[in-house]
Amino acid sequence: MSTGPRAQTGPAFVPLARPDMGEAELSAVAEVLASGWLTTGPRVKAFEAAFAQHVGAPEAVALNSCTAGLHLALLACGVAPGDEVVTPPLTFCATANAILHAGATPVFADVDRDTGTLSIAAATAALTPRTRVLLPVHHAGRPADPLAFRALADGHGLRVVEDAAHCVDASVDGQRIGTIADFTAFSFYSTKNLATGEGGMVTTASADDADWMRVAALHGLSRDAWARYAPGAPAQYDVVMAGFKYNMMDLQAALGLAQLARLAEMQAHRARLWDRYESGLRALPLGRPAPMPAGWTHARHLYTVMVEPDRCGWTRDALQAALGREGIGTSVHFRALHLHSYYAQRFSLARGMFPNAEHHSDHALSLPFWSGMPLADADRVVETIARLLSGRA
Ligand SMILES: Cc1ncc(COP(=O)(O)O)c(C=O)c1O
Repeated sequence: MSTGPRAQTGPAFVPLARPDMGEAELSAVAEVLASGWLTTGPRVKAFEAAFAQHVGAPEAVALNSCTAGLHLALLACGVAPGDEVVTPPLTFCATANAILHAGATPVFADVDRDTGTLSIAAATAALTPRTRVLLPVHHAGRPADPLAFRALADGHGLRVVEDAAHCVDASVDGQRIGTIADFTAFSFYSTKNLATGEGGMVTTASADDADWMRVAALHGLSRDAWARYAPGAPAQYDVVMAGFKYNMMDLQAALGLAQLARLAEMQAHRARLWDRYESGLRALPLGRPAPMPAGWTHARHLYTVMVEPDRCGWTRDALQAALGREGIGTSVHFRALHLHSYYAQRFSLARGMFPNAEHHSDHALSLPFWSGMPLADADRVVETIARLLSGRA
């Protein structure tokens, strides 16, 4: 049963998302606890190798979050004050915060109305002589046309960093997400398709950049603790840069390895749930996820509907509140960044500037969707929405 942590009396609470952890994850963590080595060590190395192989990328660097990955990737691109990074306003604040922390300026360009991913036309129009990096976001798990952004970047001498927080398992025309951009940052946050509690990974084709990121992620030390504490190993290290504390622990990597081994099975369940929602919601006056181009796969991180008052008679916020009263957890991905006070004030942004992002910001509602969720819970979500929209008590 998907009771979730906020179980209440009456029908069980259906959470928006829940980590899908089983016996394999429990014993993997128990093994690490018994091993005497909790932090960055052999399991991180093994997880990096397994993830790189899964994606088909030459290098994968494990970190404590996708946010850290975006930050280090931008630094590895060499961005500096005055440089601009083009990104969509329809994203989590981590995307734009990382650009600011790397010392560059986020330049927002609108998304496509149907897909919610960065519009190639809007991104092209946002280019200036100061643009250094394109940072598209694979919104909800739908690839943001990575081959088109690669071509745009190559044509203008730019780098591409992809925010693949939602996109751990997707491809376009046979090329997997994680192999197209200069850097691709994945998230293993608790709600993600592959979860380690907190965690992230950056894939890249550059061994030099991967080595630089591993050093930058651990204070700038020339040798990590695992390398120093091995029997007979030299104990000395040198500080070669002012680095960060962005390393992943072996505890997290053990979870990651167990989850990666189950990813195909977990993704197959997400596909079943997705189909259940698609067939259940087809007859209702709601927008559903845009169809995918032939040859593309969707990572199916979020199942999001559009609740438009002139179509269904409900505002998104009213439907979200009513579902909450029925014991159904939902979320908004995302309130567009230019509508948040910090970004609005700092960059003089206002409603009306990115109408497609605002359309999603105002109408999108993400429904319960996680790989351990019973199909019967999806049926209950569909039945509850149908009853609410029809005005029945
Ligand atoms: C689009 C997007 N980018 C980046 C992040 C940051 O990921 P993390 O929590 O692993 O730093 C998130 C987190 O949910 C996200 O949704």
